[in-house]
Amino acid sequence: MASTVVNPGLEGVVVGETVLSNVEGEAGRLTYRGYDIYDLAEHATFEEVVHLLLHGRLPTHEELADLNRSLSEHRALPNGLLAMLHAIPRDAWPMDVLRTGVSAIAHFSPHRDDGWHETSVDSAVHLVAKVPTIVAAWDRIRRGLEPIAPDANLTTAANFLYMRTGEQPTETARKALDTYLVLLADHSFNASTFSARVTASTGADIYAATTAALATLEGDLHGGAPSKVMTMLEEIGLPEKAEQYVRDLIARGERVMGMGHREYKTRDPRAAQLEAMAKALTEKSHTKWYLIARALEDAADKVLRELKPGKRIYANVEFYSAPTLSSLGIPADEFTCLFACGRIAGWSAHILEQAGHNRLIRPQARYVGPQVHAVEPIAKRPSDNGASNGRSAGQQT
Ligand code: COA
Repeated sequence: MASTVVNPGLEGVVVGETVLSNVEGEAGRLTYRGYDIYDLAEHATFEEVVHLLLHGRLPTHEELADLNRSLSEHRALPNGLLAMLHAIPRDAWPMDVLRTGVSAIAHFSPHRDDGWHETSVDSAVHLVAKVPTIVAAWDRIRRGLEPIAPDANLTTAANFLYMRTGEQPTETARKALDTYLVLLADHSFNASTFSARVTASTGADIYAATTAALATLEGDLHGGAPSKVMTMLEEIGLPEKAEQYVRDLIARGERVMGMGHREYKTRDPRAAQLEAMAKALTEKSHTKWYLIARALEDAADKVLRELKPGKRIYANVEFYSAPTLSSLGIPADEFTCLFACGRIAGWSAHILEQAGHNRLIRPQARYVGPQVHAVEPIAKRPSDNGASNGRSAGQQT
């Protein structure tokens, strides 16, 4: 029997179980397999978190060395994929290119005779390794430069920075990007992960499910927000102009990008870490981006409380990602790609979890269209029936 409950945003609806991560919205806590992200950000690298998510536990020295070896082996892009990237118009949006690139990785990966790829830890590692390389390669190609091959001795974060510039990154920059990737690695059934799980639940393989996740990530209400945060910071220009900016924005019916969250009823725990990083990274130069961001967060909360008494609004993960990534020299239109470089760890683990305990994800909808009525043969339909016919049919119900 059809359910009578309609919940358009699936808010508060539990659609499955996971052992991978837990978002405690009231407490403002995020854990991966029982480890607090603060603890992981301080004591583990991104590669250790990849191992934790894919294998269920933090690695030993030997296991980490094995994983690093595999990542290193898979990091370079096949020539065919590089040729594809070279053929893309240089003004293409980096997220579009990444989505195409990830989908294309499948063509250069081992598959069965029927074309199907294994959804396995190996293919997950393959994707974790290649996603940052695609982002770095496109960064150079669109600037008219040749991509730089990965350095086998560098980690994911260090390699990304190296492949963009050709220079060995400073320890501060490497550590900052590594921490960013740890913080972004997983977040329960967020929209892109859910999308990946829906796709995997049909039996589609890991490359298809990851492509679906990437497509879902790019919207402003999910991973697309941080580049818009940078635009806001640039438009505001000075911390003291933040409040008026927010008032004008809300008056136009727009939202403050990088603020608010469906799950967290307090500050997103990742925002505090990222704020500290943004503050430290911008101390020597670009201080103004941090100061404007700080003023904007306070102003948004103040204005929203005035307009909607009792309502608080806090920074989410995207907000301080903007000044953090910007201070690492990453252009604003690549911020969402960096999000994907971290989240690929979580997507892969969720796809494996879904495939391991699968049930097709297929919800229902309440039908609100016209009642059943007969098809009018085309010869009898009035010549101007177009939209008006649809409207009147809808109104009859
Ligand atoms: N700016 C201004 N107002 C906001 C807001 C924001 N960023 N986020 C929420 N609100 C307001 C809404 O206008 C809404 O008001 P209403 O009830 O009068 O319609 C109210 O707060 C409801 O908020 P909530 O139910 O908590 O939001 P949601 O679950 O529908 O949406 C987001 C969550 C993330 C989509 C939303 O906060 C948002 O659009 N944020 C900006 C984009 C962003 O940062 N995305 C990245 C998310 S990690």
